[in-house]
Amino acid sequence: MPELKVSAIREGTVIDHIPAGKGLKVIEILKLGKLSNGGAVLLAINVPSKKLGRKDIVKVEGKFLSEEEVNKIALVAPTATVNIIRDYKVVEKFKVEIPDVIEGILRCANPNCITHYEYVTTKFYVISREPLKVRCHYCERTMEEEEILANL
Ligand code: CTP
Ligand code: ZN
Repeated sequence: MPELKVSAIREGTVIDHIPAGKGLKVIEILKLGKLSNGGAVLLAINVPSKKLGRKDIVKVEGKFLSEEEVNKIALVAPTATVNIIRDYKVVEKFKVEIPDVIEGILRCANPNCITHYEYVTTKFYVISREPLKVRCHYCERTMEEEEILANL
């Protein structure tokens, strides 16, 4: 079978090796549906992959990710690779990594948590990566994958 071709981008970021079916969620959490720079966003779903069987790919023209954005991707797509593209070449490649402590990017699922009433930065400790599980620093509520994805 001939290899499936997805357009190369000139300048920007390719988020590769996303678990199949999670690409749209990556677009959602990075708010790429309303990208302000006018660049194109490409999504490939269910592409054959040697490592993963099937994978999704998100390509974003003219955008480079912040550390916070990379950490968000790690929570949704822990197998993802981030490629930075300049002048059509991959100039940097790294795997995302779930940090030990997640600050500021997740809401607490406990409606009574102080983080909903005071201006404090949320803080969670990662207690397991597979399956994903975190604990709120303020109320000790634990959250598993489904709740985490709903509160990004
Ligand atoms: N890519 C792109 N535009 C470019 C260059 C690369 O969209 N101008 C994409 C490729 O299609 C691929 C990813 O960026 O999805 C990484 O490119 P590359 O490192 O060349 O591919 P591989 O060697 O297959 O990557 P890996 O080893 O990480 O699987
Ligand atoms: Zn809490």
